[in-house]
Amino acid sequence: MGSRPPGMPLVAANWKMNPTNIDDALDLVRGVMSVARGQADKVEVALFPPFLWLTAVSEVLFESGVKLGAQDTFWEMSGAFTGEISPAMLKPLCQWVIVGHSERRLFVGETDEMVAKKTAAALSCELSVIMCVGELADHYDAGTSDQVVSAQVKAGLASCSADDSARLVIAYEPVWAIGSGKNADPEHAYKTMRLIRKIVGEMIGAGAARKVRILYGGSVKADNVQQYVELPLCDGVLVGGASLVADEFAHIVKVTAEVYGHR
Ligand code: 13P
Repeated sequence: MGSRPPGMPLVAANWKMNPTNIDDALDLVRGVMSVARGQADKVEVALFPPFLWLTAVSEVLFESGVKLGAQDTFWEMSGAFTGEISPAMLKPLCQWVIVGHSERRLFVGETDEMVAKKTAAALSCELSVIMCVGELADHYDAGTSDQVVSAQVKAGLASCSADDSARLVIAYEPVWAIGSGKNADPEHAYKTMRLIRKIVGEMIGAGAARKVRILYGGSVKADNVQQYVELPLCDGVLVGGASLVADEFAHIVKVTAEVYGHR
């Protein structure tokens, strides 16, 4: 589960704290599924609804080929950790989990060390992991994006090995591009993804690093996705706002399938 068929791109839908009721969540998943199902041999599609909707969404997705993931997890498997959800709890429902999203780093104070522990815990339960990294606007303006992203990757993957590579995805999401409509210049995205691949190679070996998929995220829409998925090192996209509109998300999946179909 969650392993990478050679060359398969990933289009991931981070619904964040939306929709606020289950009926809308199920409408959205049915809308997405009607298109994603037909692309399942070309694109891996994974949906990341809020925790509360995971069970109901998993029933709709059953045997559809569309994958399910959680937006976060804790690093312990059980115990006195009020409000937390463990990877062991997610495993029966989900194939995927997101860790280290910038909104968790910013609003909940998640540190690189916490991200590393969450990554290791999720991988130990055989979940596939999307670990998010990305610089703030101040870093971008100061020209220190590379240092910030390098440090996040090194810290977040501290306990990872070559064995984890097929279940590991790194999403490069410049924080200033998230929800702002200011998607990153593809050249900047490309250079940063190249840096990420190099660092991962130094950490787990170049051969294993080639199996780690790297996504771009940040204001990805139907009308700009092509410029990212065409980048040589880009293995797909992590989509926020545009994943809440079934037709728009479906378009993103289709464009990705077409681009990778021609590679
Ligand atoms: P937007 O696509 O809304 O910019 O969000 C990106 C994101 O944070 C996905 O994880």
